[in-house]
Amino acid sequence: MAQDPHPPPPPPPPPPLAQPSKAQLDEVKAAVRALLRQPDYDDGSAGPVLVRLAWHSAGTYCAATQTGGSNGAGMRYQKEGGDPANRGLQHARAFLEPVKRRFPWITYADLWTLAAVVAIEEMGGPRGAGAIPWKGGRSDFADDSRVPPRGRLPDGAQGADHLRHVFYRMGFDDREIVALSGAHNLGRCHASRSGFDGKWVNNPTRFSNQYYKLLLANDWKKVKLPSGMEQFVYVDEDDDDEEEDTAAEGGDGEAKAARQKEKEKEREEGRLMMLPTDMALVSDPAFRPWVERYARDKDLFFAHFAAVFGKLLELGIRRDAEGRVLNAEDEAEGYKSAPKKSDEPQAGADDQGPGQVGHEAAPLKEQNEVNRARREGAKL
Ligand code: HEM
Repeated sequence: MAQDPHPPPPPPPPPPLAQPSKAQLDEVKAAVRALLRQPDYDDGSAGPVLVRLAWHSAGTYCAATQTGGSNGAGMRYQKEGGDPANRGLQHARAFLEPVKRRFPWITYADLWTLAAVVAIEEMGGPRGAGAIPWKGGRSDFADDSRVPPRGRLPDGAQGADHLRHVFYRMGFDDREIVALSGAHNLGRCHASRSGFDGKWVNNPTRFSNQYYKLLLANDWKKVKLPSGMEQFVYVDEDDDDEEEDTAAEGGDGEAKAARQKEKEKEREEGRLMMLPTDMALVSDPAFRPWVERYARDKDLFFAHFAAVFGKLLELGIRRDAEGRVLNAEDEAEGYKSAPKKSDEPQAGADDQGPGQVGHEAAPLKEQNEVNRARREGAKL
């Protein structure tokens, strides 16, 4: 069939959205603040897992190949979201879905990184003049073609060489590795996620330099967990004595057993842990002086942490002199967010849709295909 020699000109593609304004971002920050308290989750806060979400979204960066990093929000896809290293982070993503529903203009990549900054501030971390620097403008990948390969995030079972291999790849030095590790003041390990178990400090929802103090102060003992993995624990010897005293008190068998159980529970709750990678910070001669300094000087740690966490969140982002992102990933070329994805924590396993965690990026992909067809049509 003959083609119409004068087809109507295609409609112009929609103009790219401007970057979010300060007022818009303030609204998002307030919404994140409001969701941090989660009485039914872990230690009562979404904060720690939000911090881990941002870190894992950025920590895939490879400076040599300029791949990975905080652009793209690739964890919406099975390829990255289903990586065993990211187990548990579906909870962090689900916590943020109500914010995305209220502010659909924000990109997931911006939301995930900004939420971590807000969470750290709210948990007592650097703020005000010394706050973590954060800039917006990240885009959401429209498909999983640029999702980085798995295996780039650190493995807690390893040592100093591994830490250097992983963090040097991102462009960090020894001091920065120690400062970043201070985020383990927050949150806990979950046997069902990483195989490790327990929290690093007694108050895991307050940001401080306690992690470094404990690393130096306590007599950490290596234990083998039911998962077969090894970690280090601190057992308070005084507690052991107390338990023996209680046992010696006598009383009937049932009451004694109940008291014993209660004591065990208390002891279990008070038991702190370190990963082999955490212990490498004290055994390695180049890392250790920074552990000592951060343990002594909380202000120094806060200043260094704010700078290095800000650097982490920028990995993979290229900006011009005005701070505009140059590597906008979506094909509409601008600040364009992916449509909202599923509210529910996704299993991150085989029950996902084809290649995607909750199919959330499919509409953006379709939109980009329409945009591309229009542009190609316009060139004819
Ligand atoms: C140095 C290498 C690192 C290793 C090997 C490592 C490993 C781990 C592991 C195994 C967990 C437990 C996950 C779970 O079972 O749920 C964890 C949790 C966590 N990590 Fe790291 N991590 C490292 C660096 C970092 C960095 C650089 C940050 C942020 C700057 C960070 C922030 C966190 C937070 C906040 C949690 C607690 C998450 C929660 O409570 O759900 N980690 N990390």
